Amino acid sequence: MTILIVYDSVFGNTATLAKAMASELETTHSVRLAAVGTATNVSLDGVDLLIVGSPTRGFRPTPNMQNFLDGYADATLGPLAAAAFDTRLDLETIHPAPLRWVVEVGGYASDVLQRMLAAKGCVLAGEAAGFLVGGTEGPLRDGEVERARAWARSLVKAG
Ligand SMILES: Cc1cc2nc3c(=O)[nH]c(=O)nc-3n(C[C@H](O)[C@H](O)[C@H](O)COP(=O)(O)O)c2cc1C
Repeated sequence: MTILIVYDSVFGNTATLAKAMASELETTHSVRLAAVGTATNVSLDGVDLLIVGSPTRGFRPTPNMQNFLDGYADATLGPLAAAAFDTRLDLETIHPAPLRWVVEVGGYASDVLQRMLAAKGCVLAGEAAGFLVGGTEGPLRDGEVERARAWARSLVKAG
């Protein structure tokens, strides 16, 4: 199986997780890892599983990540298997409490990405996943790298 992981990252936390997923999966599969950058065209030739990851910023993925998926016309990626993840603030770090509610209700990048993947015709390989950072610039909460590795592994097992 060939797996493509495309990620965006401002402060490096999402990149850390994407790299951890790549190192987990490349023990058993062929893995390509690509920072989305400003390029909208990453080749999907020969790819069996697409994993996309973005920081949550303003309840959404980064513009670069949204542009990456928008670069593919609706229903053109079927039946590629795909899954989305994000990084997001640990709600416990958000004060005052009513702001926590706003962040939670606002939603997260991986939910948006998952909807975009489905609209492009992808078959979801697993549920979207969110990984916690302890502040805007990180660090990742303890155990999140291991959880990301396990999530990536579960996508392959399910597929
Ligand atoms: C402008 C801005 C908006 C953000 N919006 C949200 C948000 O809506 N929800 C959330 O949980 N975290 C939010 N965050 C925190 C980011 O999710 C956090 O910076 C990101 O996960 C770090 O990942 P990175 O190191 O890969 O950039 C925001 C951060 C910034 C700077």
